[in-house]
Amino acid sequence: MNGWRLTGLLSLVLLAMALVFLARHPDVEGLRLVIRATARTSLVLFALAFSAAALAQLAASDITRWQRRNRRYLGVSFAVSHAIHLAALVALTQTDPVLFWTLTNPANIVLAGTAYLFIAAMTATSFDRTAAWLGPRRWRLLHLVGGWYIWVSFAAAVGKRLPEGPLYWAMMVLVIAVGIVRLIAMSRRSKVALGTS
Ligand code: HEM
Repeated sequence: MNGWRLTGLLSLVLLAMALVFLARHPDVEGLRLVIRATARTSLVLFALAFSAAALAQLAASDITRWQRRNRRYLGVSFAVSHAIHLAALVALTQTDPVLFWTLTNPANIVLAGTAYLFIAAMTATSFDRTAAWLGPRRWRLLHLVGGWYIWVSFAAAVGKRLPEGPLYWAMMVLVIAVGIVRLIAMSRRSKVALGTS
């Protein structure tokens, strides 16, 4: 499975997952399940897209080459997953605003909202035409800065939940691992460029 078909399939699975949760719990609990589940699917999809080029460089194999080839489609699938996270959050503001404000605060909305601006800009420039319109240098800058901003957003969102149990520690290991993989690949590339390796 490759390309836009991969994005289409993953999007259907994500939508079906959200609908099943809401059908089983047609209340606030269902919305919270969707918010938490999509945060987790988003993390996995983001980790796959964010680490794709670095893993293909550091550990070439059929799997990492598949990941690298499908980086764009995994990235757009991450955006779909996080759009569902946002839709469920908006629904929560309507159904139980008091609970919503006990779970979050204005500062978090500004910081996490900025991540959504990056996700929107990166998704909009994930098509051949829009990427060509932006130009390769600006595209690389947007996707580099945006990628690391989203990485920090995950580190913060997971980090503050570490006291809640081992699942959050496992999620944190994934966040840190993809960050380290990216930094190692970046340092190898700059050593090669400087001719010191
Ligand atoms: C305006 C933007 C956002 C708001 C208001 C928001 C709000 C929330 C809330 C209220 C929860 C807890 C749900 C519950 O306990 O029932 C949550 C969970 C989470 N969010 Fe978001 N979020 C936003 C954007 C983001 C972004 C941009 C990221 C990461 C890039 C993110 C990652 C997470 C993670 C990792 C969890 C934990 C899920 C779990 O418990 O496993 N969120 N968010």
